[in-house]
Amino acid sequence: MIFDSNYDLKDESETLRLAQSMAIHLHPGMNLYLKGELGAGKTTFVRGLLRGLGYQDKVKSPTYTLVEPYSLEKFTFYHFDLYRFKDEHEWDDAGFREYFNKASICVVEWPEKAGHILPEPDISIELSHESFGRHIHLISHTSLGAECLKATI
Ligand SMILES: Nc1ncnc2c1ncn2[C@@H]1O[C@H](COP(=O)(O)OP(=O)(O)O)[C@@H](O)[C@H]1O
Ligand SMILES: [Mg+2]
Repeated sequence: MIFDSNYDLKDESETLRLAQSMAIHLHPGMNLYLKGELGAGKTTFVRGLLRGLGYQDKVKSPTYTLVEPYSLEKFTFYHFDLYRFKDEHEWDDAGFREYFNKASICVVEWPEKAGHILPEPDISIELSHESFGRHIHLISHTSLGAECLKATI
């Protein structure tokens, strides 16, 4: 189910605030993909999601490890950064396919680097640089994703 929304984000705090607003409407089993060039604010958005889910510690970019797991109270939240992802065989060898399950939430930066091996996301997010800060385009691909976007303000 396609639903989309657009926001202008003037500074980092607005990016964090929007992500925090979305976080409380996420459910286990959902997958979110984040697109945008380096420095567009993808990791900032993930930090906002984690804050919204009650995680207060540092959020580091898993550029070399490809994924950082967060064991939250109700589910495991996996933050992928596939910028350096190369070998598709590595995906199954590392067991990443199993991370996409009904009990976890997967948020993926640079999903385009993994091509077709990723499942369809519930929501895809595109961030872009603008003179005023950043523009964000949120698109749902499932009804669960659409409900989440409608509730995000
Ligand atoms: N709405 C915004 N306006 C201006 N700067 C922003 C905004 N959102 C985030 N930033 C800044 O942009 C940079 C983005 O870094 P990061 O989130 O690591 O990007 P990415 O993960 O896309 O490479 C950070 O310095 C962050 O403070
Ligand atoms: Mg990043």
